[in-house]
Amino acid sequence: MSVDKNPTIFTGFAEPDARQFDAWSHQPLLMSMEQGGIDWPSSCRNGTCRTCFSKLESGQVRYEIEWPGLSAEEKEDGYVLPCVAYPCSDVRLDYAGF
Ligand code: FES
Repeated sequence: MSVDKNPTIFTGFAEPDARQFDAWSHQPLLMSMEQGGIDWPSSCRNGTCRTCFSKLESGQVRYEIEWPGLSAEEKEDGYVLPCVAYPCSDVRLDYAGF
């Protein structure tokens, strides 16, 4: 994991009821949501199980692992894994798991 010496706070919204949280650039979205009191489904927390599978309704994320458990098509369609996705902007997430 790279060290972000100047982390940025973006604004995150977790649907369906637009719960707001501080989305820090230096940590995965899942961790920021939990720190904001949002209970988001998760299990492995390393990008493999897809329990946290979500739709990025707006914003941009980056990954520090080479290939999180998403297909290229899912990535293109805006799906993300918040346990390993780091925000690069304000974000709006909607849970898309089962
Ligand atoms: S918690 Fe397993 S992929 Fe996110």
